[in-house]
Amino acid sequence: MERPVALITGGTRGLGLAIAHALASDYELLIGGRDPRGTAQVAARFPVARPWACDLGDPEAVAGAVDGIDRVNVVVHSAGVAPRKSIEEVSAAEWVQVLNLNLVSVAELTRLLLPKLRESHGHVVMINAGLGLHAAAGWAPYSASKFGLRSFADTLRAEERGRIKVTSIHPGRIDTEMQRAAYKAMGRPYDPAEHLAPATVARAVKYVLEAGDGAVVEMLQIRPESVGHQ
Ligand SMILES: NC(=O)c1ccc[n+]([C@@H]2O[C@H](COP(=O)([O-])OP(=O)(O)OC[C@H]3O[C@@H](n4cnc5c(N)ncnc54)[C@H](OP(=O)(O)O)[C@@H]3O)[C@@H](O)[C@H]2O)c1
Repeated sequence: MERPVALITGGTRGLGLAIAHALASDYELLIGGRDPRGTAQVAARFPVARPWACDLGDPEAVAGAVDGIDRVNVVVHSAGVAPRKSIEEVSAAEWVQVLNLNLVSVAELTRLLLPKLRESHGHVVMINAGLGLHAAAGWAPYSASKFGLRSFADTLRAEERGRIKVTSIHPGRIDTEMQRAAYKAMGRPYDPAEHLAPATVARAVKYVLEAGDGAVVEMLQIRPESVGHQ
């Protein structure tokens, strides 16, 4: 029997890679990332997987890459950037870059895949963040992009109810390169124990996909046990 297809953006490392591992036994994976060679190397690690390389910040590249997808059941939007800077330090170009990748590219990729997602009664999972629920000093563009992503998820769910399932996942800090870079920017010592393991959040993604016929987990928050809001 044909496996369902799961496209994972940001599947080359960090949380996206952990999600690929969590879904590998049940799905045919499309591994998203910018580098064709890197995505191919990651895809080769899984039983049934293909690279899906494109710069999500470039709408023409996204449209070209979507042309190569004949069917899709699950899209996990995990690609993202998170510069750790104060409002005083962020340029207009950086605002545009963060909003473009974390929000606009999610909307565009989802729009292009809508017919195929409706066909499969598919599931769209947005990897949001604690900072999509509560703003914090030093994260203005990231937080704004994730607040916007939450609203996008709610609107998509309202427009596609009964046709496409939509889940917004809000993890606290996760032990990935993104978080290590943020600590470096803050000049603070990094303690992996204060972070969620990527595999833990990936299990939550698997759980929402398995919620069962007739049910959808609309929103899920998951945090390190010992740490409050990010
Ligand atoms: N880490 C945390 O503490 C944390 C907490 C809450 C939520 N999140 C969210 O979790 C998601 C994954 O974060 P992470 O920590 O796994 O980040 P990460 O380790 O920095 O990985 C980022 C991923 O995004 C891809 N990517 C970046 N720019 C791209 C572009 N222009 N086009 C296509 N792909 C691009 C990267 O692919 P290549 O570089 O290979 O192209 C990589 O696979 C993000 O949405 C993030 O906001 C993270």
